[in-house]
Amino acid sequence: MINRQRRRVLAGMATAAAALAAAMAWRRRAPAAPGAVDASPVPPPPERFARALRVPGRDGLMAELALNAPLTVHARDAAFAMFDGAPTRVWHYAASIGDRAPANPLLRARRGDTLDVRLVNDLAEATTIHWHGLAVDEANDGSGLHPVAPGGEARYRYTIDNRAALYWYHAHPHGRTGRQLQFGLAGPLLVEDDEERALRDRLGLAWGERDLPLFIADKQVGDDNAIVYKDGADDWIGNRVLVNFTPEPHLDVVPGLYRLRIANASNARMLRLAFAAGDGLLPFRLIGTDGGLLAQPWLVDDVFVAPAQRVDVLVDFGTRAAASGAGERVLLRSLAYVAMENEDESGAFARDPMGDHPGAAAMGEAIDLMEFRIGGARPPRVDVPARLCALPPPPAVDGWPVRAFRLRMDAEGRWFINDWNFHDTGHEPVFAVRRGTREVWEIRNSMTSMPHPIHLHGFAFRVVSRSISPPDVRARSVDANGLGPQDLGVGDTVAVWPGEIVRIALDFSQPFAGTQRYMLHCHNLEHEDMGMMLTFAVVDA
Ligand code: C2O
Ligand code: CU
Repeated sequence: MINRQRRRVLAGMATAAAALAAAMAWRRRAPAAPGAVDASPVPPPPERFARALRVPGRDGLMAELALNAPLTVHARDAAFAMFDGAPTRVWHYAASIGDRAPANPLLRARRGDTLDVRLVNDLAEATTIHWHGLAVDEANDGSGLHPVAPGGEARYRYTIDNRAALYWYHAHPHGRTGRQLQFGLAGPLLVEDDEERALRDRLGLAWGERDLPLFIADKQVGDDNAIVYKDGADDWIGNRVLVNFTPEPHLDVVPGLYRLRIANASNARMLRLAFAAGDGLLPFRLIGTDGGLLAQPWLVDDVFVAPAQRVDVLVDFGTRAAASGAGERVLLRSLAYVAMENEDESGAFARDPMGDHPGAAAMGEAIDLMEFRIGGARPPRVDVPARLCALPPPPAVDGWPVRAFRLRMDAEGRWFINDWNFHDTGHEPVFAVRRGTREVWEIRNSMTSMPHPIHLHGFAFRVVSRSISPPDVRARSVDANGLGPQDLGVGDTVAVWPGEIVRIALDFSQPFAGTQRYMLHCHNLEHEDMGMMLTFAVVDA
């Protein structure tokens, strides 16, 4: 996290270990400009792209489950064959339905459905299920306010009242979220509604074939195939990438249009997603974000996806096949970017960030996630509508009260939101918002810092402006308020880059009564666990 020190460490490693020298060479290159392709990303592991992508199936990891009946899941730890050789212990939410044993299932529901999930904690430590992005009351939020003790259980029961989108669920115990997610406690939740259904029918892309979730997380994996985590660590990045719990997979695709619903479930790694083909990029359409469809598709070359964010994209492998024929391979890559992990104003000392991550690409370095192999007959052409749904533009917020937040680190290297660190303030709400009011939250990051993906529970928001953005962000803006295409959707997590002031509009209407407590925090899970989190209350008007 501190550049000066990281450079020193890298230089030391390169001289000490000749075998690492080649791998290090590209690390010293300047990060690529937006749109450029890094020709030599992370050296491939020997088995790179050997496995077929897991698509949601009947059984095992990411099996698909309709939430049309009460469901019991056990948080537990079991071994799965994941890499070559020894199996890997994965902490997961295990269900058992007839002869099926889904683990971290892809849950599917329709808006208006009742979710009824019983969690039994078979782990040796407290855990929860937090329903990331869902408009729920405190009791069903699964935050660290309501931990489930080892051997204990909880029941989450609520009506789903969110737009159609890819949401996700994950553990959220106080101080242990980074550890539990790194070990695997997370899965996708797909919500459907009529508007999105209409688009789906119009596109005619079969779910599970040409309409697929990509649930992406990097993991630090040791020689024994064990997932590694160190308590108290900073920015836990990894040397392997799991897509749908498959390491660096491939997918055979036809030369046609695909819809990919992508979640970044990494602890700390921000992704700059692009489709790399030959020595160029395959432009794609961004059609949705955290909270569902955008009003219109945006043709882009790449998109930043911070931890916890989701994007819904359409990519046409047919255009690539037309250019150079079938047999072509397209890589889903995170392009190099300026990670902006600058030394903090405080000059706080941080431990070596890469020493714990042998073989991992540093933050901001290019990394290949999966491969698409184009073959077969060209399917009928699909027309993408110019208008996707009736989402209004971000609201005009003149006259709305503004609540200001500043993201910063103190001289001891502790992260703060204003003067609040969760280890000091805990579950005591630091402010209260009256139910039904509307507010602008203005989140300002320090000039010399790093990007923080800021998330709040219980409420979705619209981004209304970005100012003092770094060049990579400014270069992507498409309106007078500094917003990029991704900002034009409904969000629950927003990346705030060093120096930036990001304003989000919030409507605190909700069908609940009494005091409901929620969290506001950085979704870099190590920052969260180090206390970059606060509790706020929504109270009766
Ligand atoms: Cu995705 Cu407070 O969490
Ligand atoms: Cu952060």
